[in-house]
Amino acid sequence: MSHHRHATSCLFLLSSLLELASCFNWDQLLSTKTSANVAFADLPRFKYMIDYHRKRSQELYGNDCTPNLLQGGSSAGPLARRSSGQVVRSLGTFPGLSASPRYYRNNSGSWPDFAYDDLKWVDELESRLDEIKMEFESSAIPDEMWETFRTKKGQEFSATTGWSHVSFLDNFKWKPKQIATLPRTYDIVTDIVGTERRLGPRHIAVARQKSGTGIPEHSDLINTMLTLHMVIKAPSKCAVGITINGEKHFWKVGDPIVFDTTYPHETFNEGEGDEDDVVVLLVDFWHPDLSICEIEAVRKFWRMNSGV
Ligand SMILES: *[C@@H]1O[C@H](CO)[C@@H](O)[C@H](O)[C@H]1NC(C)=O
Repeated sequence: MSHHRHATSCLFLLSSLLELASCFNWDQLLSTKTSANVAFADLPRFKYMIDYHRKRSQELYGNDCTPNLLQGGSSAGPLARRSSGQVVRSLGTFPGLSASPRYYRNNSGSWPDFAYDDLKWVDELESRLDEIKMEFESSAIPDEMWETFRTKKGQEFSATTGWSHVSFLDNFKWKPKQIATLPRTYDIVTDIVGTERRLGPRHIAVARQKSGTGIPEHSDLINTMLTLHMVIKAPSKCAVGITINGEKHFWKVGDPIVFDTTYPHETFNEGEGDEDDVVVLLVDFWHPDLSICEIEAVRKFWRMNSGV
């Protein structure tokens, strides 16, 4: 599908405009997609949520292009999965997206296909690892540049988990000061991952897991994006990594992984001293099963609910 879309930019633009103009119909989406998605165990509740948010969005926007998801909170709800993949809270999700804890290259080295985009850019990004590594090694990033999360709860979380980041992009906003600390890395990421088709949600960041720390198991509750980790710095002599849906993955320099943070995941760094800190390039990107129209809708809703 993506190959056809990118074949000529004119056609691509035209189809995007048409999609935006017609937007989509939630009832149709539910009937065609949700029944195929075995993870949606709580369909009546999910439908209730759709109706709730459709109503709220219509009050605010007066149109029918209404996404439903994310951000937790008392009204917009999250999605969480059990280790089995079962959805335990289906309030606040986008239906019908491919759901897998991790995505792997197949035996020929190809990433799986999705409805509207592909992951070929991951290979391209990997081919630029040396440049990214070199820039990081030669940069002295000031301590205060390693941020925690925006909310008070998020900051407390970071303080105890040893996770922090220098983010170039924070929920649709580019951050010049952070970009200036690693300009080459920013150029490479934007050249390769590039478009609004992919970037916008949550973060593009260089993230650090301090030695001797780890993030306990949790779900990020947002099923409209996937996350890439590509390791920039990791010790070779101690166990460092991320467990996704019960499967342990050891971080090694390079070695990009793509995963779905709605599945339970936790990080670990059994190192001892600053030299054992792990640093990863983290890229959140719109789920490649979302159409342009759906992205626009989700983005609108995201902004509405988070004030960004
Ligand atoms: C690997 O995936 C690509 C893209 O989906 C596909 O064309 C190819 O046939 C697959 N190869 C194998 C060996 O599965």
